[in-house]
Amino acid sequence: MNMHVAVQARAHQLDPQTQTFAADVLDGLSQPQKSLSPKYFYDDAGSELFVEITKLPEYYPTRTELGILRDRAAEIAALIPANAAIVEFGAGATTKIRMLLAAHRVAAYVPVDISGDFITAQAAGLRRDFPELAVYPVAADFTEPFALPDAVRDLPKVGFFPGSTLGNFEPHDAAHFLGSARAILGRGARLIIGVDLEKDERLLVPAYDDAAGVTAKFNLNVLRRINRELGGDVELPAFAHRALYNRDQHRIEMHLVSLRDQTVRILGERIAFRAGETIHTENSYKYSLDRFRALAQQSGWTLQQSWMDADGLFSVHALEVAG
Ligand code: AVI
Repeated sequence: MNMHVAVQARAHQLDPQTQTFAADVLDGLSQPQKSLSPKYFYDDAGSELFVEITKLPEYYPTRTELGILRDRAAEIAALIPANAAIVEFGAGATTKIRMLLAAHRVAAYVPVDISGDFITAQAAGLRRDFPELAVYPVAADFTEPFALPDAVRDLPKVGFFPGSTLGNFEPHDAAHFLGSARAILGRGARLIIGVDLEKDERLLVPAYDDAAGVTAKFNLNVLRRINRELGGDVELPAFAHRALYNRDQHRIEMHLVSLRDQTVRILGERIAFRAGETIHTENSYKYSLDRFRALAQQSGWTLQQSWMDADGLFSVHALEVAG
């Protein structure tokens, strides 16, 4: 954090988490291409909007992945060793893990998420519905190295990373995450991972720019959060949501477009926008099977088996530690 931001943050008596948010926002908005990290979408309102997105007719990933997990649960379960511990990276709704738990008896489930309260609540529901399952929640940032609970140390490990969250990582971060997941899970581990596939932009773009405007609200919510948590004066109607497919980079990009020349104030800093200038808020990378295989290999994993829906929209893969 630069001195100036640190002084501002102290003057505004921000807690350490909000200080980091402030530093990231001011840093991102002072770059030639202004940007904000997509991790800041997910305050309470943003998390609720994301749940709404997953139910939209245009947003095919969630329901397609659920369909694959439901239809292929027995095949996927056959790759899970007896007495295994499943480690879920970033635990969302428990719908997906429940499909695996119903198809296969595992010894333990380790949901890992930054929000300790959220996974504790989830764990209670799973313990009720699967009384023989040992649940060991870990409150940690799953993109950084963390220790698994001692109780699962000697069990075979299977990582679970659904939802194509990998797509929100830059390719080098995706490789780094896969490498660190391999190190955390250890020798002989497997990883079951959901990955969105490259496809016609006539399907891709509406998934990120729906007719009901829910994704627009989700994108604009980050500005609302800046106003609330950092005392910003950003006028939301002066920005518009934009989603585009960048075919060269194989990614959906979300931006917030300034609709006029304007200056906003955040923590006392003045940030100028030209009309048409954008804040780049998210990338969602889409993979071909070959590009995903190469990424996995480069990170020390071998592709064991892949499943897709009949329309080839989405994929689920089982990886095993190479060598
Ligand atoms: C969480 N992640 C996989 C979503 C995606 O599709 O990239 C986030 C999202 N952004 C807009 N719509 C959904």
